[in-house]
Amino acid sequence: MDRIFSGIQPTGNLHLGNYLGAMRNWVRLQDSYECIYCVVDLHAITMWQDPAELRTSTREVTAAFIAAGIDPKKNIIFNQSRNSDHTELTWVFNCVARLGWLNRMTQFKEKAGKHRENASIGLYDYPVLMAADILAYKATHVPVGDDQKQHLELARDIAQKFNNDFGVDLFPLPEPIILGVASRVMSLRNGTQKMSKSDPSEYSRINLNDGPDDIALKIRKAKTDPEPLPSEVAGLEGRPEAENLVGIYAALGDRQPEEVIGEIGGLSFSQFKEKLTELAVAELGPIGAEMQRLLAEPDEIDKVLSDGGARARALTAPVLAEVFETVGFLTD
Ligand code: TRP
Repeated sequence: MDRIFSGIQPTGNLHLGNYLGAMRNWVRLQDSYECIYCVVDLHAITMWQDPAELRTSTREVTAAFIAAGIDPKKNIIFNQSRNSDHTELTWVFNCVARLGWLNRMTQFKEKAGKHRENASIGLYDYPVLMAADILAYKATHVPVGDDQKQHLELARDIAQKFNNDFGVDLFPLPEPIILGVASRVMSLRNGTQKMSKSDPSEYSRINLNDGPDDIALKIRKAKTDPEPLPSEVAGLEGRPEAENLVGIYAALGDRQPEEVIGEIGGLSFSQFKEKLTELAVAELGPIGAEMQRLLAEPDEIDKVLSDGGARARALTAPVLAEVFETVGFLTD
């Protein structure tokens, strides 16, 4: 069976954009692939993280995976730092990847901003660690959003150069699984900005562990425009907030905007928002409640991570042994 690896950073709350854009797809992929889902704490510390918050976020993301329906028995769920093979393989890959390749990474340029000299070396090396994450498992497929495509390309380049340099066929070239339209959920306060955990306004996003009252309040306060909803998708053009809310409504119901627009065309925003709230509470309410239940018993979460870590190490140990042998390291 083909094998999937994907990761998500434990930095701040998970929101509706993470759920519709990534997590819900991950839930579906578990039926047709062997899946390894990783809470990438090593990646998180490439930017400063408060230690207590890092621990909390790691448990929250894990709780969200389980609450969203990812089965931790069938799949592997673990936090990255539990398997040191990721960092060992990163070192070998550091010696394969070229400076010129990393200098082209747009995410580094964005995250480092103007103060490049002040960025951590870890932030620069981030994509090499990501390549090691994937290739340590010889994963064949990686579900990625737009922002990670370039990093996946780099992982393929590293795999190919390693194979070429040593004249082996050790690493498969991982293929992207491009996630659907719903991967762009915008802020509830500004339809032209992506919904983001770093937005200072809590009203800009619906968090996965929000209760029904929070969900209702945030939708009620969501920015709109003065016109009623159009009855065709073309009528959403130039109306980013309307387009976003219709997109969310469609995605939550697992439909396309074309399919829902007939049903809501002509409604006022307040009427539409009632429908949207009802659907959002029905879809997200149970996930939030299950997250709260799990977070009240962190032992259960920690056990999932510990068990997942052991199973992850069992998969990567033979791959690392092959790599060490290929490179010429003496081992026991
Ligand atoms: N860089 C990814 C992100 O921020 C997270 C990630 C780390 C990842 N390792 C990965 C995604 C391996 C896919 C495969 O979204």
